Amino acid sequence: MIDGPFLAIETSCDETAAAVIDARTVCASVIASQAQLHTPYGGVVPEVAARHHLGTVNVVIAQALADAGLGLRDMQAIAVTQRPGLIGALLVGVSTAKALAYATRRPLICVDHLLGHVCASWLEPIALDPPFVSLIASGGHTRLDLVYDLARPSTLGQTIDDAAGEALDKGARLLGLGYPGGPALELLARGGDAGAHRFPIALGGKRTRDFSFAGVKTALLYVVRDEGELTPGRRADLAASYQEAIVTPLAARLLDAAREHRVPAVALGGGVAANGRLRELVRAGAAHAGLRVAMPERELCTDNAAMIGAAAQFTEPVPWPDYLAMDAMPSAPPGGIAV
Ligand code: KG4
Ligand code: ZN
Repeated sequence: MIDGPFLAIETSCDETAAAVIDARTVCASVIASQAQLHTPYGGVVPEVAARHHLGTVNVVIAQALADAGLGLRDMQAIAVTQRPGLIGALLVGVSTAKALAYATRRPLICVDHLLGHVCASWLEPIALDPPFVSLIASGGHTRLDLVYDLARPSTLGQTIDDAAGEALDKGARLLGLGYPGGPALELLARGGDAGAHRFPIALGGKRTRDFSFAGVKTALLYVVRDEGELTPGRRADLAASYQEAIVTPLAARLLDAAREHRVPAVALGGGVAANGRLRELVRAGAAHAGLRVAMPERELCTDNAAMIGAAAQFTEPVPWPDYLAMDAMPSAPPGGIAV
């Protein structure tokens, strides 16, 4: 545990974020999203992301310190997302964090981004303690973890192809919606009938905790190709049916895992956790099974630095100045989260 307030930095994808954290309290959290910058390209362009982080990171850190009413010298450590992510984007955060930690003679904490998503619910006001089962569903990852120890979650299952958010983004694109597609698809789906089209639920018949979304995406591709011009009503029905085929296995496997491992709570994380239909399914299933549900606010579900500050408290700090040779890593080490 870090004694006193510390700074956390996140730049692994298209959000430049900084937070000041003190134990379970978020003193300040600033997020500058680049999503609009990437909209014309239909996805995140790594080089554009890295350059934009470079221009924004210092401003975001200064804002987080100002919001907390603290100075850099008050920070007892610097935490940063080290892995996994876009290498150029990660490097901006890691280099910034190393420089600040070195200049202030503080330890550096190199955090796993996915551990960050798992730990988001540990922060106030949710303040969830293990044991629980965590579902992380974002644009890059879909993973189910059994959490007895926040330093070492054990992975129960993950996607074998596309991430859930990636499948939602690609489906949204097929239906003529912009990037990021998840929120736009959800909006369109609200006016549609989720039972209008039966998309396959991947790995549905198997006793597995893994996920697969490539088949659902291909099924939508064929429908759009075969039906040609879609009426607004049909588009909404397809959006609702497609969303249902993606969120149903997410909710079902999360709740099944909690029942199987007899834990009293489930937690959601990652951008897809902002999805209203997923939240509804998890809430209903959890109420039925008597489980507590931890659903962080939207800002804590999508990428942010507060969650990196939470995970930092379950990660070994590297003392000054041993971290100067530490590097960013584009992928997580084999075997999942390593601390
Ligand atoms: O965690 P996140 O901000 O970034 C990654 O680490 O990927 O997640 C972004 C993903 C995108 O695929 C986006 O479409 C999806 O989360 N997303 C949603 C919603 N809001 C964001 N998907 C479904 N419904 C939403 N409301
Ligand atoms: Zn993320």
